[in-house]
Amino acid sequence: MNIQTVGVIGAGTMGNGIAQACAAQGIAVVMVDIDQAAVDRGLATIGSSFDRLIKKDKLTQAQKAQALALITGSTSYDDLKSAQLVIEAATENAALKIKILGQLDAMLPAETVIATNTSSISITQLAAATRRPDRFIGMHFFNPVPMMALVEIIRGLATSDETHDAVKALAIALGKSPITVKNAPGFVVNRILVPMINEALFVLSEGLASAEDIDAGMKLGCNHPIGPLALADMIGLDVCLAVMEVYVQQYADSKYRPCPLLKEMVAAGWLGRKTGRGVYRY
Ligand SMILES: NC(=O)c1ccc[n+]([C@@H]2O[C@H](COP(=O)([O-])OP(=O)(O)OC[C@H]3O[C@@H](n4cnc5c(N)ncnc54)[C@H](O)[C@@H]3O)[C@@H](O)[C@H]2O)c1
Repeated sequence: MNIQTVGVIGAGTMGNGIAQACAAQGIAVVMVDIDQAAVDRGLATIGSSFDRLIKKDKLTQAQKAQALALITGSTSYDDLKSAQLVIEAATENAALKIKILGQLDAMLPAETVIATNTSSISITQLAAATRRPDRFIGMHFFNPVPMMALVEIIRGLATSDETHDAVKALAIALGKSPITVKNAPGFVVNRILVPMINEALFVLSEGLASAEDIDAGMKLGCNHPIGPLALADMIGLDVCLAVMEVYVQQYADSKYRPCPLLKEMVAAGWLGRKTGRGVYRY
């Protein structure tokens, strides 16, 4: 399959990042959101992101102009018909995604592959919202998309080898290093990462060390670029709690129980950087 045009649903954090990563590699993009203001915000974010790369001498003005010319912003799903692959990166809500995927399935050509960037919803369940579960796959980019090397490719129960191979080749063409994983809550990276953050909060709440020392320990002892508690504040403590609750429910295993301190902090509205206070104060 030759992917020359990628459709992206959602012009938010991930959608505009995916659009930027594609356009930077010479792939045409149609980026769709619900209203023009959201599309314009996405396009503006891409423009500023390219500007930062120009400041660092990683991009020229001409390359920026070339990449931006490849991106079409739109509020109409009809404009996605020219794409060989449509990546859904709308708000993380199962009912919303099922609705969007049904709409896409009804209007896209039969051969178009649909991918979703969901971080937690079952790929098999989302594939079932379409009549093309063999041409449906998870393509989980990491934030910020232009910087992060990983793409987790998640196969649903019915995903075909052809679909998998096409999406993997695209990830490589985008300069990413893909890994292929089976469908399960949290896939691979968040399955390991979020319980580690939860455990760091247990260590904190048991008073074994200060937050600063826990983070220093994991940075210096495990070579992590950021400590787990600082990372929790970046991700959002509410997001970490929601993920642990999904694991407890889906795996029915008490090893995933959320740390009581995490629940307390979320109840207090201490959600991390976004609220000015989490494990640390900002
Ligand atoms: N933010 C992250 O760090 C991250 C990392 C990996 C994966 N994800 C996943 O990526 C997806 C998008 O997350 P985000 O952080 O970009 O969210 P976001 O809130 O920044 O952007 C979502 C966008 O989707 C748009 N949207 C909503 N309904 C739509 C519709 N019917 N049609 C078209 N657009 C619609 C919204 O207007 C918004 O602009 C989610 O599934 C999320 O779980 C997020």
